[in-house]
Amino acid sequence: MIAKSTPAFLIDALVFDAYGTLFDVQSVAATVERLFPGRGVELSQLWRSKQLEYSWLQSLMQSAVQRREDFAAVTAHALDYAAEALCLSLTGAARHRLLDSYLDLSAYADAEPTLARLAPRPRLILSNGTRAMLEPLAAATDVARHLDVILSVDAAGIYKPSPRVYQLAVDHLKLLPVRIGFVSANAWDAVGAKAFGLTSFWINRHRAPLDRHGPKPDAVLDSLSELPPLLGSV
Ligand code: LAC
Repeated sequence: MIAKSTPAFLIDALVFDAYGTLFDVQSVAATVERLFPGRGVELSQLWRSKQLEYSWLQSLMQSAVQRREDFAAVTAHALDYAAEALCLSLTGAARHRLLDSYLDLSAYADAEPTLARLAPRPRLILSNGTRAMLEPLAAATDVARHLDVILSVDAAGIYKPSPRVYQLAVDHLKLLPVRIGFVSANAWDAVGAKAFGLTSFWINRHRAPLDRHGPKPDAVLDSLSELPPLLGSV
């Protein structure tokens, strides 16, 4: 008889980041490549890094007179910056096509099987995206079938890694933070969740060094599929 292994972590619910974790933001590169041959990777990488930078800056800058814009607006501003910085002239139609491609990202191959293996625990998305961005994305892939709810930072009025965002998961699940597993392939997000008090798993898809501005995530994994065994799921 094979003894059942003891889970390394006691986790009652899983909260997933969306962009970069379940959905591949670099899949927009194919659309960029068709519009600007040879520039797909360059534009999609700068677009993503400006999108995140603007989310952090808008969180810091917000005041009674300076309102935070939602992630759809931030994503559009980041695209405009990235195209100008790379001297790519964006027609209205091309801009529209690129922004639409954000609603049609591919899910990572390990996303749907991992979500399925983690049942019957509640499984959520907690993302910077608006619900109008996230819901079609989940519905267009098999991911939606395995999700209990999609939470957007919009309910907190600030972007990750504000503790107010991670608190949304606690309020929804009504569990102790340490019994909630937060899963992100964005190191800064995994660090933010750990700083808040969630049990945090960083999916280090690109073998990057760990960011050093806060506490280390509880575990660093190469892919989502390494997660279920750590939680006692097959
Ligand atoms: C998100 C960004 C951080 O989905 O990837 O929240």
